[in-house]
Amino acid sequence: MTTNNEKDKIVIFDTTLRDGEQSPGATMTLEEKLQVAEILDQMGVDIIEAGFPIASDGDFEAVSEIAKRADKAIIAGLARAIPGDIQRCGEAVKHAKQGRIHTFVSTSPIHLKYQMSKTEDEVLDIIRETVTLARSLCDNVEWSAMDATRTSIDYLSKAVDIAIKAGATTINLPDTVGFTTPEEYCEMFQSVRDNVPDSDKAVFSTHCHNDLGLAVANSLAGLKGGARQIECTINGLGERAGNAALEEVVMALKTRGDVLPYETGIETTSLMKASKLVAAVSGFPVQYNKAIVGKNAFAHESGIHQDGMLKNAGTYEIMTPESVGVRATSLVMGKHSGRHAFKDKLNDLGYDLGDNAFLDVFKRFKDLADRKKNVYDEDIEALVENEVSSKGEANKVEALTVIAGTGGLQKAIVTINVNGVHQTREATGDGPVDATFNAIKAILKHKARLQLYQVHAVTEGTDAQAEVSVRLEEDGYQVTGRSADTDTLVASAKAYVSALNRLDVKKNRPKTLKAS
Ligand code: KIV
Ligand code: ZN
Repeated sequence: MTTNNEKDKIVIFDTTLRDGEQSPGATMTLEEKLQVAEILDQMGVDIIEAGFPIASDGDFEAVSEIAKRADKAIIAGLARAIPGDIQRCGEAVKHAKQGRIHTFVSTSPIHLKYQMSKTEDEVLDIIRETVTLARSLCDNVEWSAMDATRTSIDYLSKAVDIAIKAGATTINLPDTVGFTTPEEYCEMFQSVRDNVPDSDKAVFSTHCHNDLGLAVANSLAGLKGGARQIECTINGLGERAGNAALEEVVMALKTRGDVLPYETGIETTSLMKASKLVAAVSGFPVQYNKAIVGKNAFAHESGIHQDGMLKNAGTYEIMTPESVGVRATSLVMGKHSGRHAFKDKLNDLGYDLGDNAFLDVFKRFKDLADRKKNVYDEDIEALVENEVSSKGEANKVEALTVIAGTGGLQKAIVTINVNGVHQTREATGDGPVDATFNAIKAILKHKARLQLYQVHAVTEGTDAQAEVSVRLEEDGYQVTGRSADTDTLVASAKAYVSALNRLDVKKNRPKTLKAS
């Protein structure tokens, strides 16, 4: 697709809600998925892969609900090369203004032998049958050759030829195990497209995992080889080392248009907001030095850099913070700020809350302003995200007292509202956090193992809110709870209880399937 200024339009396919959500511990609730989908849709993502409908009833519901609500984006669901999967996927996307069935099968010798126990010819038949079925249910069909980068070009070309003849409109050649290099990936697309007579009847797509840290470089190289769709996730979320990061792909194309003659339809000023939302709901914090959306991505510490920046920002800045939605930290509100001003601030920050949610967040803001003199944008964002992620949870921390210091064992007394009944317990521990968690465990009994306990300061200063993430695992189920408070121990208790609430919900759902 060529535009007026001769730049090819690149289709951005976001799979945060499918491949991203498959990261161990990154499970999102329906409410959270709807929020993420809404922001992706608003920021101009062309295709949102909303889930894997056969995996669980929860996944099906998420895909179909997102399909009903999406405004502009095409909504895709994933399906294995199995008729039942494809039919279920067709059901889930059928209410979308535009839906897509994305079906995949492995093509590499190692997958055929050990995972599928099938011959090459058997897999070619499966591709023909399943793509034909998908196409009978939906006009927009993507076919993926799982582990394409470890498949011979000859066999891959045969498979692609069959998929296009059977009606696939997009052909995705994933680097499933993050093994390829930019030059090799580019050549793979060139060769397959040269070998397949009808290659111009489909859009070719990249899908890169980041095991060697090459996912974005490989995706861009795929464009040189003729791909015109990039599959990616916000913050690079995804299994193992993750997927190509959407914000990096999009900003590389925008910033280096001189050597990468492509453009996307993404409103880049929304990138930071999307990143924060995904970090909040997935419980995967963004590393400080992460490109584009890391806390330090636009910070200039050394004297020489600061001097240059003061004279001309272009000396050390290749893109402006504003272009990705980073605002200068502003002192915004305090305890005298009223409802009206707070609503305006939320609108400025891009939040549009319903009446009840607004009142809850406003109350939390007033509580915070009583404890913290300066309330910054980041504080308000943390409040809103907390409100969204804890909505509807069964058990809530009502009170916490902790005795800590050098004088001996630490002690915590916790009160939790358990489905409407207040229960209080006290416990000792090896440090105040351990004591707090022990007291909670005495009320909400469980066998979960603590996998991660992480604390971040939301803003600068000793009165900053602490943002705590707690990841738990029990019987193969992993969940993450998050909370923020000016008191690190209160935030820890709330994050722990939130994780336990999520664990309960998850354990009561059937186990979900995974793709890659
Ligand atoms: O990495 C992969 O191969 C995948 C496919 C399911 C597209 O995620
Ligand atoms: Zn993948």
